[in-house]
Amino acid sequence: KFDKNTVVVVFGASGDLAKKKTFPALFGLFREGYLDPSTKIIGYARSHLTKAELQSRITPHLKFNNVKDHEKITQDFFNLITYVSGNYDTDEGYNKLRQEIEIFESERQITQPHRLFYFALPPSVFLSVAKQIRKLLYADNGITRIIVEKPFGRDLETARELQNDLSPLFNEEEIYRIDHYLGKELVKNLIVLRFGNQFLNSAWNKDNIQSIQISFKEPFGTEGRGGYFDSIGIIRDVMQNHLLQVLTLLTMERPASFDPESVRDEKVNVLKAMEPIDVNDILIGQYGKSEDGKKPSYLDDETVKKGSKCITFAALAFHINNDRWRGVPIIMRAGKALNEGKVEIRLQYRDVPSGMFQNIPNNELVIRVQPNESVYMKFNAKTPGLSNESQVTDLDLTYAHRYQGFWVPEAYEALIRDALLGDHSNFVRDDELDVSWSLFTPLLNYLEGPDGPQPEIYPYGTRGPKGLKEYLKKHNYNVLENRSDYTWPITTPD
Ligand code: BG6
Repeated sequence: KFDKNTVVVVFGASGDLAKKKTFPALFGLFREGYLDPSTKIIGYARSHLTKAELQSRITPHLKFNNVKDHEKITQDFFNLITYVSGNYDTDEGYNKLRQEIEIFESERQITQPHRLFYFALPPSVFLSVAKQIRKLLYADNGITRIIVEKPFGRDLETARELQNDLSPLFNEEEIYRIDHYLGKELVKNLIVLRFGNQFLNSAWNKDNIQSIQISFKEPFGTEGRGGYFDSIGIIRDVMQNHLLQVLTLLTMERPASFDPESVRDEKVNVLKAMEPIDVNDILIGQYGKSEDGKKPSYLDDETVKKGSKCITFAALAFHINNDRWRGVPIIMRAGKALNEGKVEIRLQYRDVPSGMFQNIPNNELVIRVQPNESVYMKFNAKTPGLSNESQVTDLDLTYAHRYQGFWVPEAYEALIRDALLGDHSNFVRDDELDVSWSLFTPLLNYLEGPDGPQPEIYPYGTRGPKGLKEYLKKHNYNVLENRSDYTWPITTPD
């Protein structure tokens, strides 16, 4: 199903997000035949750029996959694009935009316009742009949609303020709040894995699972954007949004259907069942220099406040007070400047009844979101041959092997297409945002308040603060002691 003659306006077109994500995602959809050639794309920003300059900024970020003729497809794509410069807070630029849009729509004799406005913008201009769109660019007889990017506030109060400012301008149906983790293939797969497989579905509960981990690891520090990061920290950057979204999809009850509101209702329900985060049960850190002294510490970053207590690593334990999950700790952990880059979900099953086995390892289901998408189950099997010993092995669905030749869309590609088609399933609803900030705000207030603890320094390039292993054990995670027995080729559990 194609949506024809849509106008897509990218605000902040000269910025980093637009260059690295928004335009390349539009290109990816175009390349795969999911952005109709009748679409018109207009870049808008303050900078005076020629179309050629815009093109040369974006081109290095385009991916061609199997397309041979790079030049032709690039040109075809850029033929859809024009660029308008103007301020964010005065009418002038928006009038130019309006004119471009109206000429396009009247040439095509469009009676029901479809306009999509993408906010690749800093929060400081967010509201002015929303107001101007409402005033000058709103499609009265058609469809207007806005895609907005985080941050959606910095705590409960500011998130509500933003929502109160926005709601007189656009109704909830017109707002698409992007959390790009919801566009990742393996995150989207959670619903199918859970509810489409009875062997998983029936054991997805406290009787069978003893601990859950959602981990986000990046191998690099804030290099280059310390200034921004310093005012938000790792919890706001990836936990309150990306990882919490993963957590809700992982733990919610079965929605009545795939219908966006049914799914989002269940997400809100499980968020409401979460207990407050216990501030005495967290592990927080900030990276120092690497052990060999070659990589800088967080505080070496000149854009960062002197003596900053900003957190670059956190592990938090969640508890869900419902029949399915009571008593199962769910650990969310995230860190920058760690030993590797990886995002994964790990569910560890309870012990099998002992007697015939001693210390047989726990089953684990691992959902590797990135890199190298895969789903695998660690399970026990008899060592082949005459031995009766058991051995840990795995059932392995590695996408690169199993789905050769499939196109796995990038998160932004999947989400922009959803917004073009008006599908809200993978976007964040206002009430979801509210509950999630209610959950995190007390913790943030504690950490950033006068009695906030000092983060533990961990060396750049390591697994994080020293106490991590103990923290995991304390929350029911059995570490597989003899790693060398286990030979899944790509991952090492930790
Ligand atoms: C962004 C954060 O939202 O997500 C970044 O601001 C982080 O700090 C990024 O690096 C991670 O996204 P991805 O898709 O690279 O895992």
